Amino acid sequence: MGLYRSATSLAVVALAAAAAVQCDEESTAAQDCKCFPGDDCWPTAAEWSEFNSTINGKLVATVPLAAACHDDKWASYDEATCTKMQNGWLDPETHYPDSASIMAPFFANRSCDPFTERSAGCVIGTYVQYTVNVSEAADVAAGIKFANDRNIRLVIRNTGHDYNGKSTGAGALGLWMHHLNDIEFKDWDDEHYSGKAIKMGAGVLGGEAYKAADAQGLQVVGGECPTVGIAGGYSQGGGHSALSSRHGMAADQTLEWEVVTGTGEHLIANRENNTDLYWALSGGGGGTYSVVLSLTSKAHEDVPTAGANLTFTSAGVSQDAYYEAIATFHASLPKSADAGVMSVWYFTNETFAISPLTGPNVTAEQLKEFLTPLTDKLDELNIKYTSFFGDFDSYLSFFNNMFAPIQVGIAQYGGRLIPRSVVENNNTALTDAYRSITTQGAQFIGVALNASLATAGNPDNAVNPGWRDTLIDTVITTPWNFTAPWEDMIANQEQMTDVFMPTLAELTPNGSAYLNEADFRQPDWKDVFYGANYPKLEAIKNKYDPNHLFYAITAVGSDYWEPQDDGRLCKA
Ligand SMILES: Cc1cc2nc3c(=O)[nH]c(=O)nc-3n(C[C@H](O)[C@H](O)[C@H](O)COP(=O)(O)OP(=O)(O)OC[C@H]3O[C@@H](n4cnc5c(N)ncnc54)[C@H](O)[C@@H]3O)c2cc1C
Ligand SMILES: *[C@@H]1O[C@H](CO)[C@@H](O)[C@H](O)[C@H]1NC(C)=O
Ligand SMILES: *[C@@H]1O[C@H](CO)[C@@H](O)[C@H](O)[C@H]1NC(C)=O
Ligand SMILES: *[C@@H]1O[C@H](CO)[C@@H](O)[C@H](O)[C@H]1NC(C)=O
Ligand SMILES: *[C@@H]1O[C@H](CO)[C@@H](O)[C@H](O)[C@H]1NC(C)=O
Ligand SMILES: *[C@@H]1O[C@H](CO)[C@@H](O)[C@H](O)[C@H]1NC(C)=O
Ligand SMILES: *[C@@H]1O[C@H](CO)[C@@H](O)[C@H](O)[C@H]1NC(C)=O
Ligand SMILES: *[C@@H]1O[C@H](CO)[C@@H](O)[C@H](O)[C@H]1NC(C)=O
Ligand SMILES: *[C@@H]1O[C@H](CO)[C@@H](O)[C@H](O)[C@H]1NC(C)=O
Ligand SMILES: *[C@@H]1O[C@H](CO)[C@@H](O)[C@H](O)[C@H]1NC(C)=O
Ligand SMILES: *[C@@H]1O[C@H](CO)[C@@H](O)[C@H](O)[C@H]1NC(C)=O
Ligand SMILES: *[C@@H]1O[C@H](CO)[C@@H](O)[C@H](O)[C@H]1NC(C)=O
Repeated sequence: MGLYRSATSLAVVALAAAAAVQCDEESTAAQDCKCFPGDDCWPTAAEWSEFNSTINGKLVATVPLAAACHDDKWASYDEATCTKMQNGWLDPETHYPDSASIMAPFFANRSCDPFTERSAGCVIGTYVQYTVNVSEAADVAAGIKFANDRNIRLVIRNTGHDYNGKSTGAGALGLWMHHLNDIEFKDWDDEHYSGKAIKMGAGVLGGEAYKAADAQGLQVVGGECPTVGIAGGYSQGGGHSALSSRHGMAADQTLEWEVVTGTGEHLIANRENNTDLYWALSGGGGGTYSVVLSLTSKAHEDVPTAGANLTFTSAGVSQDAYYEAIATFHASLPKSADAGVMSVWYFTNETFAISPLTGPNVTAEQLKEFLTPLTDKLDELNIKYTSFFGDFDSYLSFFNNMFAPIQVGIAQYGGRLIPRSVVENNNTALTDAYRSITTQGAQFIGVALNASLATAGNPDNAVNPGWRDTLIDTVITTPWNFTAPWEDMIANQEQMTDVFMPTLAELTPNGSAYLNEADFRQPDWKDVFYGANYPKLEAIKNKYDPNHLFYAITAVGSDYWEPQDDGRLCKA
């Protein structure tokens, strides 16, 4: 069963198969399909080498990270190296320094998997074939020109965190932004914002920015995982943060983008010049409008920050009582979010964990009060719990103490933004929906915030408008199993699309999802991921990338292309 069209009708599959045959025969002539490795049009080694010399030797040929786990053209099997890969495969640190690896196993497609049999082999498969190790604008322009001239798929990649495989592509040349890691602090002053700013190279990781900001007495809006980038898919896709109830979304912080467009132009986009591009990059999704070289964002005065965590289980507790406690917690969220608190919590039908509450300029004592409805309810229901409340003198020290490392490659994802009104007016139906989903074996991950326009200072940008009245960004996951039959993983994704997501959609008619944490097979994804912004975003995409070079699954304009079963892009 193919990767992308697993649930399409047989008729559509048959049509696509016919199209694929046609592509193989006519790809270079009609350019209806991208040139693919093995085709006559694919550059020879000498041609790649020639291209390499035009970019001062910055071309990297992909060597799959887990090559030592198989006998292949890159390495013979090496038990020690392979074991090291297996042990580290769930850590983001194993993947983000690599030029081609990605963290989402569904999109890695077991191309070179450290958990499959030694004899299963290793191919580049869905990983990019080569990358340009970018250190300046000219490298990006050269990569764009080569991909355009040679009709090769192009992918922009930063850390490889993307859950929906947007930073990889079969038969692609990658523009690898990871080594652009300069950080500079500035004073900004215009009619919209006056204060400190941080200019970050495209490769800067959240954790690097937090540390640099801390040294200046500042705090920066970034993700809850310190290895997610800031200027890439995160801020471009909206970006929620432990600081979002205080400052808004990451995309609400942007002041200026430095980019190379799809025609190789080096531009600055801000509120004065190339304003349409500035608007689109600020929330309209990564990997499709231009290649970002750097982002300048607001940096805020640092504040003491309180943290809390709390856990309980369903052991010895009726399921009714267990979910009643969870519903009580959800009902308490509007009040804490309005006080600047951001909450992260996880539950299955058996375990519940707040991990953590973030209270910037809020005290541990106040966090305790916000959780009183929950702790009173737990006492009333005789449910034992453990908790921790602490005051930290900076955001960085809070962050380092309260956020546990996050593993990758452990799940498949779906998501829905739950408006505050649903919690306030229909908490019973919401709890029933969560109960139904988790009782079928899925896990819930929640992020509660107030990222309203008022919180964010009324920015005009492309953030999905659904975020503005959201209380709970709900993420649903099903477990990934590296050694289970592939069909089982497809079945899990179908359960996500056909059962779990509709259960939440029913409660949120015309609702939204966070494009970075959603089901890649979401029906009506244009509306659900981008809302009313879609048509305007598509026009901007076509203006700055008129040759449709930038493609990423579910990105704006991506329906221009249709990936085939082998990953080759053909015109839809
Ligand atoms: C463990 C983990 C924790 C996460 N935590 C959070 C969180 O707290 N908050 C949150 O909002 N999200 C979170 N996410 C989701 C995260 O925002 C997305 O995965 C995001 O796409 C990562 O962006 P990246 O640039 O680091 O990664 P990549 O996977 O490298 O890139 C993602 C997308 O951005 C594009 N892109 C990257 N760099 C550029 C560039 N320079 N110019 C143009 N396009 C570019 C790529 O083409 C791709 O489409 C998390 C994900 C993981 C795996
Ligand atoms: C590109 O050139 C550099 C420097 O000569 C070399 O180290 C690198 O291996 C080359 N890349 C490819 C893909 O040949
Ligand atoms: C990529 O370029 C950086 C410098 O910008 C260099 O430090 C790094 O070693 C290069 N990586 C590879 C794999 O070529
Ligand atoms: C906009 O572009 C003009 C002309 O290049 C330049 O003078 C001006 O400084 C730019 N404004 C901003 C805010 O970048
Ligand atoms: C922090 O909160 C106090 C009172 O709760 C307030 O007086 C102060 O201005 C706040 N500081 C910042 C930087 O928001
Ligand atoms: C809660 O946070 C404290 C302080 O960092 C930590 O010691 C404890 O292990 C955490 N508890 C849980 C369940 O995460
Ligand atoms: C939780 O759900 C799993 C998977 O559906 C099920 O096997 C288990 O019995 C459930 N646990 C409880 C306490 O109901
Ligand atoms: C969210 O926070 C803003 C800014 O503090 C506040 O104006 C608003 O009332 C809060 N609540 C909602 C539902 O937006
Ligand atoms: C993963 O799948 C394999 C093969 O079906 C199975 O033996 C194993 O128990 C599964 N692991 C988990 C944790 O479910
Ligand atoms: C609550 O949700 C249910 C189920 O989706 C729906 O039928 C009902 O109309 C909703 N009630 C309110 C008050 O929105
Ligand atoms: C959903 O959107 C459609 C079309 O914009 C509209 O007709 C309908 O009333 C909306 N439904 C709800 C519940 O908002
Ligand atoms: C994924 O792997 C399968 C099995 O090896 C292969 O048939 C398929 O073409 C691959 N899909 C992509 C998109 O590479």
